Amino acid sequence: MSLFVSLFARQLLRDLQQAPGRARARRTDVGRAARCGTVAELRAAARREVPGAVFDFADGGAEDEVTLRANVDDLAALRIAPRMLAGSAEIDLSTTVLGRRLAVPLIGAPTGLTGMLHPRGELAIARALDRAGSFYTLSTLGSTSIEELAREVPGPSWFQLYLWRDRGIVRDLVQRAQASGYGALVVTVDVPRLGSRERDRRNSFGVPPRLTPRLLADSLRRPRWTARTLRDPRVTAASITTVRQGTAADPASLVNYINGQFDPAVSWADLAWARAEWPGPLLVKGILRADDARRAVDEGADGIIVSNHGGRQLDTAVSAIAALPAVVDEVGADAEVLMDGGIRRGTDVVKALAQGARACLVGRALLYGLAAGGDAGAERALTILVGELRLALALAGCDAVADVDRSLLDATTLRR
Ligand SMILES: Cc1cc2nc3c(=O)[nH]c(=O)nc-3n(C[C@H](O)[C@H](O)[C@H](O)COP(=O)(O)O)c2cc1C
Repeated sequence: MSLFVSLFARQLLRDLQQAPGRARARRTDVGRAARCGTVAELRAAARREVPGAVFDFADGGAEDEVTLRANVDDLAALRIAPRMLAGSAEIDLSTTVLGRRLAVPLIGAPTGLTGMLHPRGELAIARALDRAGSFYTLSTLGSTSIEELAREVPGPSWFQLYLWRDRGIVRDLVQRAQASGYGALVVTVDVPRLGSRERDRRNSFGVPPRLTPRLLADSLRRPRWTARTLRDPRVTAASITTVRQGTAADPASLVNYINGQFDPAVSWADLAWARAEWPGPLLVKGILRADDARRAVDEGADGIIVSNHGGRQLDTAVSAIAALPAVVDEVGADAEVLMDGGIRRGTDVVKALAQGARACLVGRALLYGLAAGGDAGAERALTILVGELRLALALAGCDAVADVDRSLLDATTLRR
């Protein structure tokens, strides 16, 4: 076994010596991203760029991935009933979310350990969103710390919080987000325990990645990713290591610590606790039922994010787009409703807006862009989605996001 590992290590070193320097790597990132014209093409480029287990970590869902697919398929199954002879030379994509004007109705979804795909991680995605006139939501498990993101990216981001057992750490995170000027707290409620991510189990994939022979072999075939990751490893939860002294030096203990923090007994009282801790706008993420949405608003939520965690938690849970209308009907007059899950095309955004979402959060589409081409790739993913959204609205006879309502959807596809 040790001979096996040392042979791999020698080959890896040889490949790394031939890996491009930083400036050339950036140029090839730009070229690779520019060649992609759809999110699906960015996904394919991402798959070629990062080791299989890392790709699967981002791409995969829970168990049989029924919900992961349903998020995409249920959006595709809705049909648009376009209005004709309603043309306009200008399409206004702007909207407001919790009183803040956005140039586009797209917000960055929180994703943990984003730096594993590319060391630029959250910074690349947040910068791309800022340039597009929107903003990012930093995960509790982000590979960029609360303070670094606030320092490096103009405009307030949102901060996503898990209601972990260790209230000392949770309070510390909330206070740091407040001190760093984050605009809203997003409390994720759909992870009382981690869902069963079977691709990760089959790949023996943990966080941070353990150097298994398979990952070594995979890394050899992905020398650009390996060189970048060795040069600038960002494979840990940066906001947590800063308070958990010692865990940075011992990543395995960090993983154990995080896994032990998800609270199977998490309850509405915990949401009320978070509400009391955070004076600004608060959104609850992971709601799929009208009665839960009502309860969250009664507990003081300003916004609801209809979401099934991108199909990574309860498999066979209802798709986000199917759950959206009932939540909008229940609380739309009292709170803002957003949604995420399955956004891969501009038409997906049109359909979510038509079903009453104020804006969509985007997860994997931005991750594919990041993995395919760092900053240029994240920017490309947004350019693609925004361009497709503009075209879809123009072809549907809407000159503004504000024009989109349920009447834009074919009624026969609404009643499935
Ligand atoms: C790799 C990955 C990591 C994620 N990590 C988090 C997280 O730390 N916190 C959270 O609230 N949601 C997390 N999510 C869920 C996203 O915020 C979002 O709900 C989901 O990605 C939306 O679906 P989409 O990827 O189809 O756009 C993660 C999703 C992915 C793909």
